[in-house]
Amino acid sequence: MRFADKVAIVTGAGSGIGRAISHSFAKEGATSVIAELRKDAGEKVALEITKDGGKALAIQTDVSKREEVNDMVKKVIDKLGKVDILVNNAAFIAMSFKYFHEMDHEEWEKEIAVDWVGVLNCCHAAIPHMIKQKGGKIVSITSDASKISTPRQSVYSGNKAAIAGFSRTIAGELARYGINVNCVAPGTVDTPATQGLGKIIDKMLQGVPKRRLARPDEIANMVLYLCADEADYITGQHFSVNGGMSMF
Ligand SMILES: NC(=O)c1ccc[n+]([C@@H]2O[C@H](COP(=O)([O-])OP(=O)(O)OC[C@H]3O[C@@H](n4cnc5c(N)ncnc54)[C@H](O)[C@@H]3O)[C@@H](O)[C@H]2O)c1
Repeated sequence: MRFADKVAIVTGAGSGIGRAISHSFAKEGATSVIAELRKDAGEKVALEITKDGGKALAIQTDVSKREEVNDMVKKVIDKLGKVDILVNNAAFIAMSFKYFHEMDHEEWEKEIAVDWVGVLNCCHAAIPHMIKQKGGKIVSITSDASKISTPRQSVYSGNKAAIAGFSRTIAGELARYGINVNCVAPGTVDTPATQGLGKIIDKMLQGVPKRRLARPDEIANMVLYLCADEADYITGQHFSVNGGMSMF
């Protein structure tokens, strides 16, 4: 078991990719902390994991609220004694698909608060404990929208690009404490966030050489690899898992 006795916080783990990551960590021996906005969804995933024989703790958290994030990390330290892994996965994905000039401030403020400030809040709360422990792994889920032009997703793509730049910089700051920081950029993944897009998905798949959506566990595989001991020399990187979408 690659993660026996490790404590892994995954934000937004009540659904989709985060849920798959939490399940994968628990299968490999970690205690999965599900830091999720929707209480019921977080508790449901924790129950699924414990029914499978794994260890899980659900903590209702809104990553955009600094106090809630600090409380969540404090609960983890009080109950489990440490935080080895932080996966910043939670995001608010606006499905309005508007051009930037058609958006109003309220729409982009929420995206920025959850997708970008949420990552800062979680890193700021967890890093001091990782420094004390002399080690840790941080992986943030970005998107290929941070690397290629994705019209009607301007603020989302800007947030994800910000996370990548931030991660590269703190990777340099934290390497001397044994902390690795990387990003994983999914292409299009079969999750509740993309289900219901209907014909838009068919159009998107025309640009994917593999001609199919990713499964959430395929994103989890990359996250677990980056958090494992075997990836100890990998830091400050931003990996696409996208069926070849951005290679042309
Ligand atoms: N699905 C895709 O095609 C795709 C592609 C590229 C990147 N991503 C990224 O992957 C990540 C997960 O996406 P998904 O498709 O699994 O989405 P999802 O909607 O299935 O899951 C997101 C989860 O985050 C939770 N959440 C939302 N706001 C929160 C908050 N403020 N605090 C805590 N939790 C919150 C939601 O309740 C939900 O359970 C996101 O960062 C997303 O941007 C997804």
